[in-house]
Amino acid sequence: MPRPLVAFAVLVAFGLPAAFVCAVVPCAVRSPYAVAAENPPGGKTPSGKKASIGHLHANDDEAHVKLPNWWKPGDPVPHVKSNCVRCHLTAGRELTAPVQDFARSVHDLQGMTCSDCHGGNRDKDADAHEEEFGFIGTKLSAHLKGCAECHSEQAEQVKSGPHYWDFSKKINLKYPVCIDCHGHHDVEKPPAEFALQTVCSECHVHLEKEMPAVASVVAENDRLWTVLRKVQDKNVLNEQPVPERFHHDLAHVREITARLIHPAGKITAAEASQLNADVTRIRKDLENYLEHDAAAAAPSKGRKTNAR
Ligand code: HEC
Ligand code: HEC
Ligand code: HEC
Ligand code: HEC
Ligand code: HEC
Repeated sequence: MPRPLVAFAVLVAFGLPAAFVCAVVPCAVRSPYAVAAENPPGGKTPSGKKASIGHLHANDDEAHVKLPNWWKPGDPVPHVKSNCVRCHLTAGRELTAPVQDFARSVHDLQGMTCSDCHGGNRDKDADAHEEEFGFIGTKLSAHLKGCAECHSEQAEQVKSGPHYWDFSKKINLKYPVCIDCHGHHDVEKPPAEFALQTVCSECHVHLEKEMPAVASVVAENDRLWTVLRKVQDKNVLNEQPVPERFHHDLAHVREITARLIHPAGKITAAEASQLNADVTRIRKDLENYLEHDAAAAAPSKGRKTNAR
């Protein structure tokens, strides 16, 4: 794909259109994870948001899940068959796409469902979109506040650096927000065309020349994700798309990468080369796995939670 098209695909996939519309017509959607970051740090979730994850409701009965006729047989369905998922599956393409993107994202793997981010009534379809049940629709500021409430440590990291802006004071589209880098429905399951480097380059045109250490960390992270995506695709119907034995090492490099990238500060050459060496080693392990083990470890068939 020629570069502009790739960039376009990335933007579409990662929900930037809203930001673009707002760049032309300033609007109130681009607002504060700032607000949530004012809450005390330390992994506490004042709203108890995390506590509600995974609670099944009486109607979450997979027997009633109907798939649209264009649904591909190999495509996974979200684990929790909430009323949101069930109705959106057959509500028409634009309303179904979020379900498809969400399936096997990190949040789906955690047993979350649509209402954990959007709010809404899980028990009564007629009230599913009522504000009275906490429904926030697509209001980006409310969503960013939600990300920050469940990920307060990362929100604090962002807040400590130059990418932070208190959106409650003034709208500012100069800075990237959580979903620019992470996506929204497909968190940790980015589309093949996605590259973090493309996101940075939107604003830092000479990233590599001006901040070589930062650029090298971003590039190495993109290389890792290229391989991770292949592993996820191969094992998409498995309980763990990325095999357990890699989790520890991956969590380690991700945490360090996050600590360096979230504050958007200086990265020393030594920090970068140490991290990049670790990332490269894990990438090689994953490549090795793809080449030798993955064929033997075929996806488990007929997963009960997979609605077929
Ligand atoms: C009975 C079917 C049905 C159920 C149940 C349902 N939705 Fe929807 N949803 C729709 C339809 C149809 C639309 C588009 C029209 C509209 O906005 O009402 C929509 C729109 C949306 C939108 C976009 C709204 C906007 O402002 O653009 C979001 C977000 C959403 N639903 C989330 C949810 C969540 C979360 C749940 C579960 C709590 C849920 N839906 C339950 C059918 C449903
Ligand atoms: C991790 C949080 C999160 C989860 C979980 C989530 N959404 Fe969303 N969703 C968002 C955000 C953020 C936006 C707004 C993005 C923007 O403004 O660019 C959004 C936007 C939407 C939209 C508007 C169209 C679009 O794709 O941008 C619909 C419809 C929607 N979500 C439905 C759902 C449904 C159905 C589910 C469950 C399968 C779901 N969402 C799960 C965060 C989430
Ligand atoms: C209701 C709570 C909740 C909300 C809201 C939420 N998340 Fe998460 N998220 C989780 C949980 C639980 C995990 C699993 C790992 C963990 O505990 O951090 C997770 C994992 C992640 C991860 C991967 C972390 C890792 O170590 O692998 C990223 C990235 C992420 N979320 C980003 C987001 C973004 C961006 C938003 C907003 C659009 C968001 N989350 C909204 C609960 C939430
Ligand atoms: C400028 C890009 C960027 C922005 C903005 C950003 N992140 Fe990240 N984030 C990263 C990178 C890069 C990583 C590390 C690599 C990975 O996990 O893929 C990361 C890692 C994470 C992780 C997992 C790492 C860990 O510490 O365990 C979570 C959770 C997360 N981010 C949440 C958020 C939330 C919430 C926001 C908004 C407050 C946010 N991020 C804003 C780039 C960004
Ligand atoms: C939406 C625009 C935007 C995006 C996307 C963006 N940045 Fe930034 N970045 C900024 C702005 C604005 C500043 C503050 C510049 C200033 O203070 O003059 C900044 C500052 C920085 C700085 C500090 C530079 C210095 O001289 O101290 C680093 C490092 C940085 N960004 C890294 C990144 C990385 C890495 C990415 C991609 C993961 C990224 N940025 C994505 C807008 C962006």
